[in-house]
Amino acid sequence: MSVPRATLVRPARRVRGSLRVPPDKSISHRYALLAAVAGGVTVIDDYSTGADCRSTLHCLATLGVPVGQDETPQGLRVTIQGRPDGFAPPAGPVDCGNSGTTMRLLSGLLASQPFTATLVGDASLSSRPMRRVAAPLTAMGATIALTDGGRPPLTITGGPLTAITHTPEVPSAQIKSAVLLAGLRAAGRTVVREPAPTRDHTERALSAFGVAVSRSAEGDVAVEGGARLQGGLHLQVPGDPSATAFLAVAAAGLPDSAVDIDGVGLNPTRTALFDVLRRAGADVTTRVTGERHGEPVGTVRVATGERLDLVIAPDEVPLLIDELPALAALATFGGSIVVHGAGELRVKESDRITALVTGLAAMGADVEEYPDGFAVRGTRRLTGGTVDARHDHRLAMSFAIAALGATHPTAIEGAAIAAVSFPGFFDVIERLRA
Ligand code: S3P
Repeated sequence: MSVPRATLVRPARRVRGSLRVPPDKSISHRYALLAAVAGGVTVIDDYSTGADCRSTLHCLATLGVPVGQDETPQGLRVTIQGRPDGFAPPAGPVDCGNSGTTMRLLSGLLASQPFTATLVGDASLSSRPMRRVAAPLTAMGATIALTDGGRPPLTITGGPLTAITHTPEVPSAQIKSAVLLAGLRAAGRTVVREPAPTRDHTERALSAFGVAVSRSAEGDVAVEGGARLQGGLHLQVPGDPSATAFLAVAAAGLPDSAVDIDGVGLNPTRTALFDVLRRAGADVTTRVTGERHGEPVGTVRVATGERLDLVIAPDEVPLLIDELPALAALATFGGSIVVHGAGELRVKESDRITALVTGLAAMGADVEEYPDGFAVRGTRRLTGGTVDARHDHRLAMSFAIAALGATHPTAIEGAAIAAVSFPGFFDVIERLRA
């Protein structure tokens, strides 16, 4: 089979239209993982069709969990028969693909399972740090082996666990979630002391499965060991605000543009982007119209506004971490952005600081790289060029949005990686051209 090396994105005069975005990646992972350890059969409608969330289903099937997948006209329906009494030892490696969330959260569930499993990933995932989850899970009683550099493969042997109080080395929903999931099967009360708030989908999903989660004003999140999850639920995943970010930036950056997006998850730990877009001068309206299983859902409208200078402070970074590449693209349309305190970007699906700065510079942007961030100044219109997505879905989409504002087309190498979280992204961009 021949795979096109590069996807060509032509400049756009403006974008306009109404649409829905793909189902939330973070929530899809969590619903599947919790359903797998709950009693009964859980049905998840609008499960993400992105490659990452498929990786989670594939891993669960490798661990003996019966997983059904039905493509309906409305979206993907996933049916999971829970195994509350334990997974089956896998016959071979458990392949997490490109998905850090899968590897880290699944480690939390495997920490109490009395067998050995080896979690592997693609080249990008194999270079990502795993000690941040291995250390607390080892302290609870699991045995974990990594490479000397603390990278995957991650070989875990579960066993009886004891609760801990853990302060993650960096604010991370993935570390928090791995420890809380292990805590469900640990003796005692497991507490995660968050250095700064991160997305709280695990906490909300646990409540939906009938598990009490306590949260203190100081940022402690706690679960009691021994809780039984009540499955048999019929869940529905809202649209992904991080996918919305790319379309929102296109509408905010191009002249005379507006997009209306319905069915978007508006959990307050995911909506910082919309506030920042307002600060950048865009015309943004969000409206919560309902709630699904503890997750607020609603509409987002973004229209062209002014293009102002933005400074992202380090304490804003944890709740904007996935949106910073899109915001870098916004600054190429005018105004500017300066980001510090975002060293975590260097250990995402790619080194997102170097890769972003290199790619935008190749398209003609005025950029600067810092050890912990970057600056993009919209002092001149991009020319377009050739860029490499570096096996990173959010970079592929950020370059595509920046390309809409360039004078000439941009060739994005490896752009198909966008399907990790947003299958059909390039078709959506074409539909929105007006
Ligand atoms: C995620 C948490 C974030 C985010 C990732 C998804 C999650 O990672 O970057 O895309 O679903 O918990 P960290 O928690 O490591 O910052």
